Amino acid sequence: MKKLLTVLVSAALTSVSVQAEDTRALQAEARTQIKAFAGALQSTLKQGMESEGAVHAIELCNTEAPVIAEQTSVNGWQVGRTSLKVRNPDNQPDAWEREVLQQFEQRKQAGEDLMTLEASATENGEFRFMKAIPTGAACIACHGTELSAPVQARLAELYPQDQARGFNPGDLRGAFTLRKTLE
Ligand code: HEC
Repeated sequence: MKKLLTVLVSAALTSVSVQAEDTRALQAEARTQIKAFAGALQSTLKQGMESEGAVHAIELCNTEAPVIAEQTSVNGWQVGRTSLKVRNPDNQPDAWEREVLQQFEQRKQAGEDLMTLEASATENGEFRFMKAIPTGAACIACHGTELSAPVQARLAELYPQDQARGFNPGDLRGAFTLRKTLE
């Protein structure tokens, strides 16, 4: 009996550690996906700002951000961005995402570095991962408190329900959000 128990316990432990390994591998994959997505977004934004300024860059974000998200969603991953204050209503958080964003705000208040905030979960046969996006100085032209008149006008046309402004450098802007169906 004792022997059987030991076998059962060690089987259970093995399965726990296999799961932990799977989770680590999925987290690593998610981080790689985010690097590709963030890199592509950043170079598109930079290109837009440098060539024709903020209004043109808004148009580029409007047309390119969803395309880039789709292009970088490879190997079964679905990649996107969300926030408690969204510009594009398609980026509205679901229940889990909202909870994680609220936790990120609390962890930031408690002194954690925004650059390091991550969360993951397995839910309904899906692995989910989020990574915080801090507001930087380069974001203020379109997400800050004082937007230029042309920027305000273009945003009003493209995003009549825009909530993604009033941010200061160092604020939590939102998060990358990823999901992958588990086999
Ligand atoms: C040129 C203007 C501009 C600049 C600069 C800019 N953004 Fe945005 N941002 C946008 C637009 C436009 C959207 C909506 C894109 C879409 O329709 O998917 C957006 C969407 C987002 C979203 C997705 C959530 C949402 O609100 O819909 C995040 C997160 C975000 N931006 C973060 C940043 C960060 C971080 C920076 C600085 C590194 C930044 N942005 C700089 C214009 C800008």
